[in-house]
Amino acid sequence: MSERDTSGESRQGKTDFGFRRVPESEKAPLVRAVFDSVAGRYDLMNDLMSAGIHRWWKAEMIAWLNPRPGQRLIDVAGGTGDIACRALPRLAPETGGQVIVCDATFEMVETGRARAIDDGILDGIEWLRGDAELLPVADRCCDLYTIAFGLRNVTRIERALAEARRVLKPGGRFLCLEFTPAVTPFLQPLYDLYSFQFLPWLGQIVTGDRDAYTYLVESIRRFPAQSELSELMAAAGLDRVRFRNLTGGVAALHSAWRL
Ligand SMILES: C[S@@+](CC[C@H](N)C(=O)[O-])C[C@H]1O[C@@H](n2cnc3c(N)ncnc32)[C@H](O)[C@@H]1O
Repeated sequence: MSERDTSGESRQGKTDFGFRRVPESEKAPLVRAVFDSVAGRYDLMNDLMSAGIHRWWKAEMIAWLNPRPGQRLIDVAGGTGDIACRALPRLAPETGGQVIVCDATFEMVETGRARAIDDGILDGIEWLRGDAELLPVADRCCDLYTIAFGLRNVTRIERALAEARRVLKPGGRFLCLEFTPAVTPFLQPLYDLYSFQFLPWLGQIVTGDRDAYTYLVESIRRFPAQSELSELMAAAGLDRVRFRNLTGGVAALHSAWRL
């Protein structure tokens, strides 16, 4: 058995926090500290570092998810509510559709809630603080589960996937949007330069926290590749697992169902 398996968990109860090995019990507070630190500038930084491409990726996610009126979506690691606010009109709150944003970091949830109120989004959205590995909702209560750029941050990916299955109704849909550890070989040198040099520099300028964006880059490199993640999803009991690469494999969408 190798020291590190696909979940980043080892025999010694250690895991990856970026390129550092830390005890599993320390990862969640470290991750929360990262997002507490950048919450106020998180959305701006997303636009700057991706030149707006994250908006297209998220639009693709919603298109593939195809939310319908009256459904209940849980958006895990939902941060400032970007996915939730995009899905909400299609869930049609006037028909009972609802979205639950669940995120581990207080500042992210509060920033999202305030932004939604400013935008006049009050109905059909619930904001919860909670961990992807132990969601504060009942079994089989959601039609749809989404997690965008969140799975990479959880300590035990298998537990988060098992939770996704637990909260989905039979027939419910799972979609994960996440960066991938390797891009097409042709893009790799440029991508490395961008990731390890430009992004931490930009993070320092925009958020004052270079380390947060060094963590982002490192955590992407430690995340399972598309086929490995597909296997973890199947092992968690999710069915009909498929993935689609986005932008030369910089990010990928993984889809599955609870049947
Ligand atoms: C990169 S942000 C993504 C936010 C949003 N989904 C988006 O696409 O803009 C990652 C989010 O994951 C949250 N997070 C990290 N670990 C988590 C966990 N174990 N459970 C729930 N949320 C977590 C962080 O607080 C942060 O808001």
